Amino acid sequence: MADCLLEFQDVHREFATPAGPSRPVLLGVDFAVERGASLAMVGRSGSGKSTLLHLAAGIDLPSRGEVRLAGRSLASLDDPVRSRLRRDHVGLVFQFFHLLPHLTVRDNVSLPGWIAGDPHAEVRARAEDLLAAVELGDRGDDLAGRLSGGQMQRVAICRALQRRPGLVLADEPTGNLDETVGARVMDLLVGLCADEGVGLLYVTHSREQASRADRVLRLRDGRLAAAEAPA
Ligand SMILES: Nc1ncnc2c1ncn2[C@@H]1O[C@H](COP(=O)(O)OP(=O)(O)O)[C@@H](O)[C@H]1O
Ligand SMILES: [Mg+2]
Repeated sequence: MADCLLEFQDVHREFATPAGPSRPVLLGVDFAVERGASLAMVGRSGSGKSTLLHLAAGIDLPSRGEVRLAGRSLASLDDPVRSRLRRDHVGLVFQFFHLLPHLTVRDNVSLPGWIAGDPHAEVRARAEDLLAAVELGDRGDDLAGRLSGGQMQRVAICRALQRRPGLVLADEPTGNLDETVGARVMDLLVGLCADEGVGLLYVTHSREQASRADRVLRLRDGRLAAAEAPA
């Protein structure tokens, strides 16, 4: 498909266990994320949601089947090329934010641009624009470690979007926030990705938050199926 940032074709993933047979986690997963589309993924703990996101980001590789990111088959690339592809096309948002607490908010948002060698002034301007969009325009000088959880996740969303990725992957981005704050963070994440035409794949346990996506998929028994709402 021409406008797919991410495609899974018959993806299997099993893990070796210390003793006995390997543990199958994904047993043939097919789906795609189109540019600008949002997709929520639900499923019980241990069903393989994080495994699927790791495969999508090229942090892990399938045992069988194909994962294509920006049109490239990830298994066919060597590590440095795969890392560069991720850096150029994917923004990641984690449950526990993973900000650098001793850096300022502005520097946290700028960091991906600096690492990639993007022009300094553009990186700074982009950071300011994004922080303003999540209503943290006046907090750029604060140390990230001083913020509340909801504020930290808003900064992490800005960081994920700094390099204008085609795809954002978010693993339980509101799992560490209370309901009201989580709802606000999810509004910003879904809204910003839609505004910028970014594909979004996020994992959530919340029925309410899953319903904000264009599409909801449930992972169960190693396979993905359409779902109206999370269990
Ligand atoms: N690197 C790994 N090695 C062995 N087993 C793993 C590894 N990563 C995940 N698993 C197993 O895969 C299953 C799915 O894990 P995970 O993807 O984290 O589930 P979820 O995010 O849905 O809670 C679990 O049984 C977990 O123990
Ligand atoms: Mg998980």
